This record gives sequence, structure tokens and C-alpha cells, in this order.
Amino acid sequence: MTSGGDSPGMNAAIRAVVRTCAYYHTECVGYYRGYQGMINNEYIPLNARSVRNIINQGGTILQSARSKDFRTEEGRSRAAENLKKAEVDAMILIGGDGTFRGGLALSQEHDIPVIGVPGTIDNDINGTNYAIGYDTALNTVVEAIDKIRDTASSHNRLFFVEVMGRDAGFIALNSGIGAGAEEILIPEEDLGVERLLDSLERSRRAGKTSSIVVVSEGDKTGKNVFELADYVKKNLPYYDARVTVLGHIQRGGRPTCFDRVLASRLSVKAVELLLDGKKNLMVGMLNNEIEACSLDLALKGKHTINKDLLRISEILST
Ligand code: F6P
Repeated sequence: MTSGGDSPGMNAAIRAVVRTCAYYHTECVGYYRGYQGMINNEYIPLNARSVRNIINQGGTILQSARSKDFRTEEGRSRAAENLKKAEVDAMILIGGDGTFRGGLALSQEHDIPVIGVPGTIDNDINGTNYAIGYDTALNTVVEAIDKIRDTASSHNRLFFVEVMGRDAGFIALNSGIGAGAEEILIPEEDLGVERLLDSLERSRRAGKTSSIVVVSEGDKTGKNVFELADYVKKNLPYYDARVTVLGHIQRGGRPTCFDRVLASRLSVKAVELLLDGKKNLMVGMLNNEIEACSLDLALKGKHTINKDLLRISEILST
């Protein structure tokens, strides 16, 4: 099942789970809308043909949701009962940390083996270098910022571009470098608004007539992206500042080849772990190798940002 914020490549993961089950002559069903589908007993048998032509589709054919009911023991018991009635022996959960937290509780309370497959554009999952959907989101953001830069340079404007990431700055930091942003604001490193003003002043003195500032939605300056733009306009009146919030387009689109291959590799491993009798693990890619770590570790640890990228961004925005 797929749960939490959807991400491009989830369909490639579903396809690989189903095809691997078929390869090993194991029956497979898909639950709709994450844990809510388990509680409402909404599922569909899936075979190798059910997942044809979806590897290149964004979104998830099983849909996704965040289930409040599943956060209660009563909700999880209803889900467990439905799984047992449907003779489901184990679950593969494609999603982020919230998904894995729910899956671990289900497994511990009802002894149902689960394997997590990391899928979230935020890429904030410990135990893997990449989560499914992150690479596609980065490319969507870079393409959007390239377009914004066209009009920014045509009008000598400063653009604040807000990107997703909930409370992680992976999208902002990497898309900012990839799109050549002058400034990147991320939750992990609050450099303060005064430093932003100094940097923009330096850019202007260096002859830059237009600039891009990428702001992570979880940024901690204490000002949202509109307040940031107003603050700059007030203090640096020569900047004609505008704001673009990219929003949910970052969650859509055809998955990149990287995300398709990542989803396929992770999902084959997830099924093979279950067939080997393993449980309560998350599959991940570390240094291009597919590894498995305990869900506990994935949930306890933190996928830390590479702060050297901030240093690189500083140098390259000279
Ligand atoms: O977790 C993925 C994500 O897109 C975050 O980046 C974002 O903050 C959140 O989901 C948005 O949630 P929703 O889709 O419920 O608005």
C-alpha cells in the first residue's frame, strides 16, 4: 500500500512488488488509500498484468491518504482483523516516516510482518540516501526555477521561490544549487534575515540585477516567504521582489529514470526479505547498494543534510 504524501515513482514500486510476487508465485493484493483502506477493507488482487504501463506514471494507482483512525489502537485492530480475514500474511508499506511508525505499531500489536519502502519527495528518511520521488521533485523544481529566472532577468527582479520539504531542506538545498540560486534558506541552518540582506546587497554591488532565493517551506527565519519578500522590499527598496510558491506540482509528474530504477530495486528487495522470513525492516539505498535497516533505526535516526552543500552554494553565488 502507499501512504502519506504521494511521490513520483510510487507506481514503479507497486509494479515491482507485484511483479516480484508473481515471479515467486506469491499472491499479492493492494490496499487503497494507505491505512484507511485497511480499516475500510478496500483492497484489490494484483497480478503481473494489473501493473502494466504504470512505471512511467506519477501518483499511485492505489491512491494515498493520512489516516487519523489508524493512529488509534482500535483502528489498528480493525485493520489487523481485515488483514487476517483476507489471509494477508505480510505488508509492504511505501511511504515516509509516518507510514513506518504506523506499520511498526501494527506489527508489534498484531504480529504482522512489515517491510518499509521509503517514498517521499522530502527525502528525510534515515537509512537511505534517496527516497522514491525525491529525484523527480528536484528536477521539477529546477525546471520551474529556470523558467522563473527567465522572467526575473527580463525584469531585473528578485524572486523568492518556496519549495516543499515539510521540515527538511533537501529539496531547497539541492534544487537551489542546481538552479544557481543566489541564496538558499533551509530549516537546518537558520542564517537569519540580516545575513540575507547583506548577501543580497553584495549581489547588487557585484552587478547582479536579478536574483533567486530558494526558501524551504519549513524554513526557520520566523518569517514566511511573503513576509521575507516584504522585509527585503522595505530594507532594500531597489529590489523589485516577487514570490512564487511551487506547492504540489513538486509531487507530480512522470518519475525520472533514477526514481524508477530506485523504486524497482528497493521493491524487489522488500519482497525477497519477506519471503526470507524477515520483518520490520526498511529497505534503502546506501552508496548505490540496496541495504535493509530496522524500522526502529530508520525512525530513530535523522537523515542529515550535507552542510558542505551550503558552503558550495555560498561560493558559487559569488
Ligand atoms: O511529505 C511530503 C509533502 O509534500 C511535504 O513536502 C509537504 O509539507 C506535505 O507533504 C504536504 O502535505 P499535503 O499533501 O497533505 O498538503
